[in-house]
Amino acid sequence: MSLCLRRKSVRKFLDSKVSDDMIERLMMSAMQAPSARNQQPWRFIVIKNPELLEKLGGISKGAWPLKEAPLGILTMIDLPEGGREAMCPQDLAASTQNILLEATHQGLGAVWIGVYPLEDRMEKVKEIVGLDKDDQPFSLVAVGFPESKNQHVTYRYDPARVQVIE
Ligand SMILES: Cc1cc2nc3c(=O)[nH]c(=O)nc-3n(C[C@H](O)[C@H](O)[C@H](O)COP(=O)(O)O)c2cc1C
Repeated sequence: MSLCLRRKSVRKFLDSKVSDDMIERLMMSAMQAPSARNQQPWRFIVIKNPELLEKLGGISKGAWPLKEAPLGILTMIDLPEGGREAMCPQDLAASTQNILLEATHQGLGAVWIGVYPLEDRMEKVKEIVGLDKDDQPFSLVAVGFPESKNQHVTYRYDPARVQVIE
């Protein structure tokens, strides 16, 4: 089964640490994502600190998986000089998805916690992590070893949503 078809959101984790080697491979995959004009408008903060993860888990109703995770990855928009701002959300979304797929590949579980473009969440993240006022947090990913061995995926393929033009 392909990685894309095996990936699913994992929100509960075992109490085991993710090694630095695994984290580096997550970061390599994040930076291997496609981006408009290859502008790579990103920066990442790896968060292992339990107190910080606890606080980040409170930025929204759905952010709680961070409280249980041994690792959080904050993705941030970091536009290079002359880069195209309009494409940044797509670039960062591709990068976030790469983290999720690499996590699946490594037998880890992960879930995307939405931040951008919701101002209140972005502000909370900036305050908790101690970022500059102009920084642009994009997403958080909670990562860890899945609590449940049952990684059953429900398939959503619906041919009716596909139009073919010949
Ligand atoms: C932009 C975005 C924001 C999301 N935010 C959250 C979130 O805050 N909390 C959460 O538990 N899941 C979040 N998710 C995960 C979705 O709930 C999940 O992908 C969806 O329910 C489909 O389930 P699956 O990932 O297991 O296929 C988010 C996903 C995306 C793409």
